[in-house]
Amino acid sequence: MILLDGKKTSNDIKDEITAEVSKMKANGEKVPHLAAVIVGSDGASLTYVNSKVRACERVGFESTLVQLPNTVSEVELLDKIEELNQNDAIDGFIVQLPLPKQIDDQKILMAIHPDKDVDGFHPANFGKMALDMSTFIPATPFGILELLERYDVDTKGKHTVVIGRSHIVGRPMSILMGRKGWPGNSTVTLTHSHTKNITQITSQADIIISALGVPDFLKAEMVKDDAVIIDVGITRVPDDQAAKGYVIKGDVDFENVSKKASYITPVPGGVGPMTIAMLLKNTLLARERHRAK
Ligand code: GUN
Repeated sequence: MILLDGKKTSNDIKDEITAEVSKMKANGEKVPHLAAVIVGSDGASLTYVNSKVRACERVGFESTLVQLPNTVSEVELLDKIEELNQNDAIDGFIVQLPLPKQIDDQKILMAIHPDKDVDGFHPANFGKMALDMSTFIPATPFGILELLERYDVDTKGKHTVVIGRSHIVGRPMSILMGRKGWPGNSTVTLTHSHTKNITQITSQADIIISALGVPDFLKAEMVKDDAVIIDVGITRVPDDQAAKGYVIKGDVDFENVSKKASYITPVPGGVGPMTIAMLLKNTLLARERHRAK
């Protein structure tokens, strides 16, 4: 079994980006600037956004954190987005999801200018991705592709089973794994809450990408020998023994599944850090495109 080490790989990527930023600075160029908008004070969302801001500092990017109260109206949030769209100093920005219920996610995602949409969630960018056009690929699927590539995992002609059809991970992942090229050229099955007899499907998979958010969902009996296992789950499970009062659990029963897998991502230290590294990569791309205009 080979561990797909997202922590190490993401550090390699951050070092590569740092080198690019140093070159920009040496040439007297503006460095990339990412803004992140967070609404409310959900602990997990705050942790993710703070990690994104810290990662900017680590690679030499500029960053701006916009914190809005849970009670913010849709109009106020749309105004803030328009301000970020117009602000020439900012190359790209994200609005952390989920949003409070008074706000329509789709309206917000549609309001972000596609050139600044480093999450790749705007329909224009999502459509380009599906059509193999150059664009921002959503950071978590992009991170998974990068891990598969850097570990030289063969995906051609393999049966990839994706668990979960979220707009952020499962849906784009299912498109990307079936695209021409590498990583890709897989035969893809997208499973979800209405899938019947999921064990029959997962046990035929060469590659399983689980983005469900149910701790220990994927058991050893659901997996064939030598399968490649990608665990996107990051659920906080209360634990009195833990210093923070919770532990982070993936979708995969790692202890038992890892005995059968050829490659597997750990949680934490797998897909999570890759997501942040690829957001930085998208921000670098946004800066390069912005500069070329
Ligand atoms: N919430 C969970 N994952 C993500 C992500 O990749 N981007 C944003 N904006 N919100 C998220």
